[in-house]
Amino acid sequence: MESVQAIKQRFGIIGDDPKVNRSVEKAIQVAPTDISVLVTGESGVGKESIPKIIHSLSHRKHGKYIAVNCGAIPEGTIDSELFGHEKGAFTGATQTRNGYFEVADGGTIFLDEVGELPLPTQVRLLRVLENGEFIKVGSSKVQKTDVRIVAATNINMFESIKKEKFREDLYYRLSTVEINLPPLRERKGDIHLLFRKFAADFALKYKMPTIRLEDDAVELLLKYRWGGNIRQLRNIAEQISVLEQQRSINAEDLKHYLPDIGSNLPAIISEKRKEGDFSNEREILYKVLFDMKNDLNDLKKLTLKLMEDGDSKKVQDENESLIQKIYGEDEEDIDTEELENERMEVLQIPQNSPKSELQDARDKYYFAEEIEEEETLSLQDKELELIKKSLERHAGKRKAAAEELGISERTLYRKIKQYDL
Ligand SMILES: Nc1ncnc2c1ncn2[C@@H]1O[C@H](COP(=O)(O)OP(=O)(O)OP(=O)(O)O)[C@@H](O)[C@H]1O
Ligand SMILES: [Mg+2]
Repeated sequence: MESVQAIKQRFGIIGDDPKVNRSVEKAIQVAPTDISVLVTGESGVGKESIPKIIHSLSHRKHGKYIAVNCGAIPEGTIDSELFGHEKGAFTGATQTRNGYFEVADGGTIFLDEVGELPLPTQVRLLRVLENGEFIKVGSSKVQKTDVRIVAATNINMFESIKKEKFREDLYYRLSTVEINLPPLRERKGDIHLLFRKFAADFALKYKMPTIRLEDDAVELLLKYRWGGNIRQLRNIAEQISVLEQQRSINAEDLKHYLPDIGSNLPAIISEKRKEGDFSNEREILYKVLFDMKNDLNDLKKLTLKLMEDGDSKKVQDENESLIQKIYGEDEEDIDTEELENERMEVLQIPQNSPKSELQDARDKYYFAEEIEEEETLSLQDKELELIKKSLERHAGKRKAAAEELGISERTLYRKIKQYDL
């Protein structure tokens, strides 16, 4: 069996962190078996080397190795990509196509970002994992394949299971062995080593003398949170190598390259941003706006009923749940009597309003509708502008743009289609 050191050298894995060494060792141990492996760890920690190690040390090494980024394939085509399709299975399916599971027969498939797989695809995947069977899209013929699966994810799979976005049975089937890679901030001993390696690589690439960090810069490097892990460290080493005139870099120079330096020091270990949790500011803002829009629609519905019926008590009784929905939240700290008064105040509309007043109120209602549409539009414009700028900044690279925008590649893909970009 090849040693951990030799494998790290072969696959360009820098560092001597005990946790990373243990992960490489685990990969070497499971490689000769057909056990499914799930590689976990934050974005940019180096998960992609693990399936390569496993494949090349397995009896499948002469077979195919196919890496599939599940998050980057549109939902509509993913089944066909993975399992193939029959001619005429859908519009545009002019020929029968073999999917990755057929092509990689006897080899290994690396399912990157497996947490992004749509639920129907998860069902198909479970079947292949259980008995090697799959069916092409649009076919009824069961086919067999012999593929080893290594999957990777940078999201918390238990949360996905809780939210019913990922099947629990599939999770356990995929993670017979889990190999976790630690975030860079927990590998302090490797940070400067990695930086020096990247600086030397870029000096060679750009034919310039190697940049060198002064002591205070090294200190800053070690304190920084490194949310993007090794990928971020590598990018920063490249930027500094190219942009700085001086080859000796101090903390002040380095600060310019570290985003959110103020809020990131001292290093705080916080949860990674996740799509759908609205944990970044823009998404929180969108969520608040859309919630407000929904509340407004509910209120409009209620107001219209009151105007038409004129009997506030009856409307209250009949729309108990709607009223509860609009006024029922955040009640814990509110005096119930006060709340009741508030409700009554909002709901007090003159009974039997004369026709002209009703008409007047309706005109206002339609006016409100226009305003709301405008606001939604400008919100979309803003979103479109943000996406365009991010894509421009990253020269059309969706992965990097999605990362910057704090959304998944799949969501970005949908938005690109929605806005026809
Ligand atoms: N130990 C290491 N030594 C040298 N380079 C590394 C190491 N680990 C990662 N890298 C480099 O860091 C970058 C990110 O690694 P990788 O693509 O494997 O991340 P990942 O964990 O798959 O992230 P994501 O979840 O975003 O896909 C790559 O350029 C890779 O070569
Ligand atoms: Mg990856």
